[in-house]
Amino acid sequence: MAINTSRLDRLISDLCQINRKKVRLILAQKRVYVDGVLAIDIAQIVDQFSYVVMDDEVLQENQPHYIMLNKPIGVVCATKDEKHKTVIDLLAGHFVQEIRDSLHIVGRLDLNTSGLVLLTNDSRWSERLTSPEHKVSKCYQVTLENPLTAEYIDAFAQGMYFPFENITTKPAILHIVSSFEAQVSLTEGRYHQIKRMFGRFRNPVIGLHRHSIGQLSLDESLKCGESRVLSVTEVDNIGN
Ligand code: URA
Repeated sequence: MAINTSRLDRLISDLCQINRKKVRLILAQKRVYVDGVLAIDIAQIVDQFSYVVMDDEVLQENQPHYIMLNKPIGVVCATKDEKHKTVIDLLAGHFVQEIRDSLHIVGRLDLNTSGLVLLTNDSRWSERLTSPEHKVSKCYQVTLENPLTAEYIDAFAQGMYFPFENITTKPAILHIVSSFEAQVSLTEGRYHQIKRMFGRFRNPVIGLHRHSIGQLSLDESLKCGESRVLSVTEVDNIGN
């Protein structure tokens, strides 16, 4: 998801349908404020959430939205789907269409994976959470068909080579909870990553549930399919 930034003169030109020469004049006449501060620099970088006022008229006031959802198995992490219910469909009745239409999914889960899914219209925030450089951990509870052994721990920590993408997975932490259950923590999200990693041991994953992303855990009061808005503290602290 591209980050929505623009030069101030371009934004005003687009919003007001006037040419950039006129915008330059308007800025020089000190008629524009961005986030409450006088703006005179044509090259000032603004984004989709910058609050832009010209001559006391609000030109742009988009609000960021941050939502957590407890995704059930059988619901697809997509905005539209012909066959399955989508995570966006689950928000109907709780969030107006204008908000639902603005959202994207922060790190998808497979159709048969349940648990914590985040949705937002703030691409800067979602990029920070999903890019491997930021090393934000995503923690999963995994149920396996066959018993686990201690050798899995090393293999996950060392990383596995995926020839299709020609990458080696980043170090992952595997904690054995019981013979058939593990907690896995990843800092990236490759296609079917957990299933493929256990696949190296010919051990099929029969249950997969994401319970946290960074500092944020799935709210236990949310039933399957339910969602809620994140608090300001949750939004700010998740990646720390
Ligand atoms: N790994 C998987 O295999 N599936 C998911 O949904 C998430 C991580």
